[in-house]
Amino acid sequence: MCGIVACLLNDKAAPVLLECVRRLEYRGYDSVGIATLSGDIYVKKDEGKIDDVQKRLDLTNIPGNMGIAHVRWATHGLPTGNNAHPHTDCKKRIAVVHNGIIENYKELKDTLQDEGHIFTSDTDTEVIAHLIEKYMEMGNGLEAATRLATKDIKGSYAIAAISADEPNRIIGVRKESPLIVGVGENESFIASDVPAILKHTKKVIYLNDNEMVILNPTGVLIKDMDGNLLDKKVNIIEWTSDMAEKGGYKHFMLKEIHEQPEVIKNTLMEFSEIEKVVAKFLEFKRICFVACGTSYHASLVGKYLFETLLGIPTDVVLASEFKFSEGALDAETLVILISQSGETADTLKALKIANKKSETLVIVNVLGSTATREADHVIYTRAGPEIGVAATKTYISQLISIYMLAIAMNGDNKLLEMLQIVPSYVKDALGMEDEIIQIAKKYKDSSDFFFIGRGFSYPTALEGALKLKEITYIHGEGYAAGELKHGPLALIDDDIPVLAVVPPGDSHDKTLSNIEEVKARGARIIALGSSEDEALRSEANHIIGLKGEITEMLSPIPYVVPLQLLSYYISIERGIDPDKPKNLAKCVTVE
Ligand code: AGP
Repeated sequence: MCGIVACLLNDKAAPVLLECVRRLEYRGYDSVGIATLSGDIYVKKDEGKIDDVQKRLDLTNIPGNMGIAHVRWATHGLPTGNNAHPHTDCKKRIAVVHNGIIENYKELKDTLQDEGHIFTSDTDTEVIAHLIEKYMEMGNGLEAATRLATKDIKGSYAIAAISADEPNRIIGVRKESPLIVGVGENESFIASDVPAILKHTKKVIYLNDNEMVILNPTGVLIKDMDGNLLDKKVNIIEWTSDMAEKGGYKHFMLKEIHEQPEVIKNTLMEFSEIEKVVAKFLEFKRICFVACGTSYHASLVGKYLFETLLGIPTDVVLASEFKFSEGALDAETLVILISQSGETADTLKALKIANKKSETLVIVNVLGSTATREADHVIYTRAGPEIGVAATKTYISQLISIYMLAIAMNGDNKLLEMLQIVPSYVKDALGMEDEIIQIAKKYKDSSDFFFIGRGFSYPTALEGALKLKEITYIHGEGYAAGELKHGPLALIDDDIPVLAVVPPGDSHDKTLSNIEEVKARGARIIALGSSEDEALRSEANHIIGLKGEITEMLSPIPYVVPLQLLSYYISIERGIDPDKPKNLAKCVTVE
């Protein structure tokens, strides 16, 4: 995820671009850049947060009343000055900013290089600047050249482009990445999201996929990709800028929970990259997952998956405990470390230990983080920046990466097809908000909760309990359903709600028996299962019933969503800010 802005003003553009792009910093913060046009194209860009780069370069000190700007969340190429946007063509007459992923950029880059184009970055985006250059050299204007360039590109994009040969014109185009148009008094804007431009105009046009916008001094034109003019509705936005940054959601956590269907689709795009490296992993005799917190729960799903699908003995070790497992490391073990941030001190320490004797793979959300530099292999999750302290969309993207890795190693394409339909299950799970709010209201004053599940549902139970602890300050205990009778049953009474995770499948009936055990001790049951599961419904005080028959193996992906929502709404009921829970930090850089 990145943020893009473009504006055509009567006044100096660079200070406005900087102010607008600051409002998109939630979309990316590893580098920033601005390009303006005043006869020539002027570019200032570098790696780092906006404030730091501004102090170093004074991004506003470039001339011109029009330009483009970008905040980056690196996907292709490390967060460096060269890889920061805007990117230019060979003659620095064209500049572009882009949010999205160009899937066929390698082929396009090879062809363009063969044709003599010189590239200066490792990004996928730079091909767009060179494609527009190529088509403009053939006699096309910026608008037609951008249209032709997008015909060559496969993937997702929101693009803004300017050319020194066409002053007073900015082209924007969108496919599968957000782009809006701001219509002001004698000025116009393009942006990834509404908050960027709210200070300047509340009149917004939402672009659909395969639509193009042309900003010029007389206003804005919207066209389809055949060049036909479209008549689009101008919407009047009533949000405050704070509301807008969260896309209308009250908290980043809720926004991030709702982004999950899109995150899954983005992460799935990495499958071909994973396929390229798996052959080597098949040689290992043992897998050892290492992680902390939520990433540890994703690892537990990994263990069940690797042992079920691949039959490879798989361990899961907490990163802070990993040094005690050092003795079992050898060259036949692949150590897979999972970390959203790639900067967690316990995980980095474990990575150092693992690197001494074993090969290491990290599954990480932050490109260029320390873990990605120190491991032998890297898989990137594609969740985009996560602002809420509680991990939600990054957990889902970790799960998807683990499933893709196991599927690529196992070679079963049927499973891959099943994974492609998971976003629809997640969407259905997101549709259960009203029921979940009622349950949250009822149980908001409980002092303890149990979460139980078997097999693939056990990590889901652990993750549900962790979310509850983190953002509601209620004690939540995740337990393997079959283990309750070995001690914790002594704690159960009618004050304790037990949330049972019971998808259809092999573990179903045994978990029902465990529900009976706790019911007999007075516990109230909140059951999370299939909406068609009458046996479960008859056991439960409340049911969160998910539509569709997802397999037990894939159930950890949609089944965690209601648990995220339940914790979120209990936290709201208790008057807690779920984005900033007390005593916690997003990234834990101490051991
Ligand atoms: C999850 O909600 C927590 N914020 C925390 O447990 C987190 O998962 C843990 O600190 C690991 O972080 P990492 O994935 O960045 O390594």
